[in-house]
Amino acid sequence: MHILIFGASGHVGTGLAQHLSADHRISGIVRSQPEGTTAYEPLVVPDWVDRPQAVIDELHRLDASPVDAVIAAVGGWYVDDAMIARGLASFDEDYSSYLRGHFAACAVSEALAEEAGSAHVRHLALNGVASVEACVGSGAISVFGAAQEMLIRVAEAETDTVDYRELKVMAPIGGDDRNDLRGGVETISLPKVAEAVSVVLTRPDEHDISTQLGV
Ligand SMILES: NC(=O)c1ccc[n+]([C@@H]2O[C@H](COP(=O)([O-])OP(=O)(O)OC[C@H]3O[C@@H](n4cnc5c(N)ncnc54)[C@H](OP(=O)(O)O)[C@@H]3O)[C@@H](O)[C@H]2O)c1
Repeated sequence: MHILIFGASGHVGTGLAQHLSADHRISGIVRSQPEGTTAYEPLVVPDWVDRPQAVIDELHRLDASPVDAVIAAVGGWYVDDAMIARGLASFDEDYSSYLRGHFAACAVSEALAEEAGSAHVRHLALNGVASVEACVGSGAISVFGAAQEMLIRVAEAETDTVDYRELKVMAPIGGDDRNDLRGGVETISLPKVAEAVSVVLTRPDEHDISTQLGV
């Protein structure tokens, strides 16, 4: 498959590209040119969230092969002060990093499907445990993570041409230094996440709209 990754520069996007590139062609949408070599072909589109059509234009400019699947690994992670104490500006910023990016990635999938004609485009959004648990110190991530599931459900309900799925990774993903692993918190390895992503993208019909991956 030709897979387009949004959030390719991030921990999960980069790791997925490394593990999936053996079997698939991976293009990574980034807002700035990555340093060094990457497991994905970088497509630099600084304004892809505000202008999803810019991604389609860039694929045309490169004369890229049709995209079969989209992975949205957009967002990030922090543990900080309480959500209300962090204030509205911070809440707005988190909305931009999470939900707004996922909306734009869905818009790209719709545009790709329109171009593909009868072929379905597969779309997989990554989500985390914060979307089902009220995470203290990461409150906005819980709010927008929960909304992200509904974004995917509504998008799936309203389309005939994209297979929208979500994978909730229910523990910290291995190798991310931002996670607090004191007290023996178990992680899920990147290869395990990549395998789950691959299975959902290969056989979306066999999976519910939202799937959870546990330790
Ligand atoms: N890390 C974990 O342990 C973990 C666990 C469970 C689930 N997940 C899920 O995995 C996904 C990605 O997490 P991650 O750990 O890879 O995050 P990350 O390392 O912080 O990377 C976040 C990515 O999102 C992009 N991004 C952030 N803000 C953006 C904005 N305003 N506009 C456009 N792009 C933006 C970044 O691109 P730029 O480089 O262009 O800023 C970056 O590629 C999240 O949805 C999260 O729920 C992660």
